[in-house]
Amino acid sequence: MEQYADIDQLLDQFIDGDGLETMKEIPPASIDLIFLHPPLQNTDWDDKGGYHEDVMIMMYDMLGESNRILKNGGALWMTASWKYTPLLYTHALDFGFHPQNEIIWHSTKGIGTRWRFSYRHQTIHWMSKGKDHKDYTFNLDDVRIPYKYKSESDNPKGMNPGDVWHVSSVHGNSHSRYPGVRSQIPEVIAMRAISSSTNKGDVILDPMCGSGTIPIVADRLERHWIGVDIDPKALDFATKRLDAPFDGWDSVDIRANRISTDRDWTVGTRVELRGAIRQNDPEMDLFDYDDE
Ligand SMILES: C[S@@+](CC[C@H](N)C(=O)[O-])C[C@H]1O[C@@H](n2cnc3c(N)ncnc32)[C@H](O)[C@@H]1O
Repeated sequence: MEQYADIDQLLDQFIDGDGLETMKEIPPASIDLIFLHPPLQNTDWDDKGGYHEDVMIMMYDMLGESNRILKNGGALWMTASWKYTPLLYTHALDFGFHPQNEIIWHSTKGIGTRWRFSYRHQTIHWMSKGKDHKDYTFNLDDVRIPYKYKSESDNPKGMNPGDVWHVSSVHGNSHSRYPGVRSQIPEVIAMRAISSSTNKGDVILDPMCGSGTIPIVADRLERHWIGVDIDPKALDFATKRLDAPFDGWDSVDIRANRISTDRDWTVGTRVELRGAIRQNDPEMDLFDYDDE
């Protein structure tokens, strides 16, 4: 019989080490959310100018471990450059994860390039261990945003933020910015993933946590967390960041802070819309839409 660590001994700690090896020590079905963000960014190419085979092999193994240690209904969140996410996504399907959303994170600014269109987005996959919506957690009410225009039929709690998130990158001068990590996850994205996919007291694992964004946001949201990284300097930085007093998230989704404005809705608009989608589709929310 395999020996696993006592999960309670690992909680709410940064672990200086290899993420995959730590995952192997975790007991089966003990984690509610895993966030995978490997070092695979747009400008990360190996010596031959191709895919990082070693990182991709590690990711394949991490996906297998994720399947083992996630609870039924648990959430897998995974992101990397668009060059790598198609392969990672395919591997996750191989392990039986169910795709729920492909989020497009539109980072509202960045470095320009001369030889192609400048990179301004990152793909984030949310997949579940369990197919039916009754099997997994989705706390939509915790992540709703204000409507652009007021309407009597609005959900008073706000609208679904959709799958394109316009969220600022972490500014180079922000106190939460770790210079050694490219493409640091903005806290607002971490907050939306964690709030929607977990409940207070749940356990979140980030086996490549870098500057500590996922563990720190998990902590602020009263979840348990485990953060692993092979870069001890990143973990020093993450520890200081965790201990600093909270003075707001390091990033912003401008739609989340907008104030709904009045609009002269016509009945015709509603009727047209109602006819355009299937009435009885439980997946559809008729009045939940936006025009940015
Ligand atoms: C893209 S960064 C993660 C950034 C993080 N999400 C954040 O918001 O700061 C990838 C991280 O993976 C770490 N890493 C690479 N190989 C690793 C391994 N085998 N085990 C643990 N961490 C690893 C790197 O040190 C780096 O910090």
